[in-house]
Amino acid sequence: MFTPFTLRGLTLENRIVVSPMDMYSAEDGTPNDFHLVHLGGRALGGAALVMTEMTCVSPEARISLGCTGMYRDEHVDAWRRITEMVHRWTPAKICLQLGHSGSRGSTKLMWEGNDVPLEEGGWECIGPSAFPFRDGMQVPRAMTRADLERVRGDFVRAARMALDAGFDMLELHCAHGYLLSSFITPLGNRRSDAYGGSLENRLRFPLEVFSAMRAVWPAERPMSVRISATDWVEGGIDGPQAVQIARAFHRAGADIIHVSAGQTSAMAKPVYGRMFQTPLSDRIRNEAGIPTIAVGNITEPDQVNGIIAAGRADLCALARPHLADPNWTLHAAAQLGYTRQPWPVQYLTGKEQLERNLRRQRELDLLGTSTI
Ligand SMILES: Cc1cc2nc3c(=O)[nH]c(=O)nc-3n(C[C@H](O)[C@H](O)[C@H](O)COP(=O)(O)O)c2cc1C
Repeated sequence: MFTPFTLRGLTLENRIVVSPMDMYSAEDGTPNDFHLVHLGGRALGGAALVMTEMTCVSPEARISLGCTGMYRDEHVDAWRRITEMVHRWTPAKICLQLGHSGSRGSTKLMWEGNDVPLEEGGWECIGPSAFPFRDGMQVPRAMTRADLERVRGDFVRAARMALDAGFDMLELHCAHGYLLSSFITPLGNRRSDAYGGSLENRLRFPLEVFSAMRAVWPAERPMSVRISATDWVEGGIDGPQAVQIARAFHRAGADIIHVSAGQTSAMAKPVYGRMFQTPLSDRIRNEAGIPTIAVGNITEPDQVNGIIAAGRADLCALARPHLADPNWTLHAAAQLGYTRQPWPVQYLTGKEQLERNLRRQRELDLLGTSTI
């Protein structure tokens, strides 16, 4: 867990990633003090890579009115303030996740109801085909060729702006039933043109978007693609197809595949459990030989060490554990007795005290065991 990992010109100090998490707290797409403290705090907390929430490439690409964006000039300055804080005060790197909500757009903030359409102030959604993500949601307009070109252009503009804003890495969001994901899964895509039908056709638009972004993103900076490696639905994407999807993005220049799952269909029957998506990462990494990020219910330092040591993934992304504890990596190091973990110099007295208390606790535990 505390070994470095290099992708192109980017070296990460350890294997922990702060998984992308929408905070639904932006206005007009502009990240604010909340995002600065939230992302900056987690960068101080020891994770080697901090990912932003899904940042939307146009106003209509947002899930909700609170989503961050990368489409107005102000967004570049607001994001630069955050990347500069991370780079100046922490050893962490920062990755921008770019996405488009597709048929899951124009909905309320997470805490007002998941996938609940906005009653006012909403917008027309677009998707590969004209049917809703779930009953009660908007029926999206099926994208025309002009829409495909415009959206691809929006992603390219956002990638250029990301460079200007100082991001170290980009991730293209092709998971969870949002626009690009809904092209890939047969459950979202019923097109009869070159962008629907076979997996090769369904991948065409997401690959066009990825390649166009790769072309403007510097060669020394890595790119990741987040996929849903199973739909958890009979007849949907499954393990073997996920390997094909990973191979296609890797050929197009993706350096690492972020292996998520599901959220692509209301009919899904996910099987949850500890590290439940890790077998999907394992399969892609070991069948296709492509670096992966495992994510999903990874909560313990021992689980991370097990996943990395067994070669089931190259990096582990943790989302909810980082909401509960921004310093998850610093605490994990102390818990494991790994005293070489760098802490922010401002916090060093906290490191010494925590390590001393944990050492005493271990000694007491040992004493307890030996006297039994
Ligand atoms: C509040 C919240 C917001 C999320 N927003 C995003 C997002 O913007 N983009 C994304 O790819 N995944 C998002 N996710 C999914 C997480 O990145 C992660 O895949 C999922 O929570 C499983 O990991 P965990 O068990 O460590 O929480 C979100 C999860 C949470 C809890």
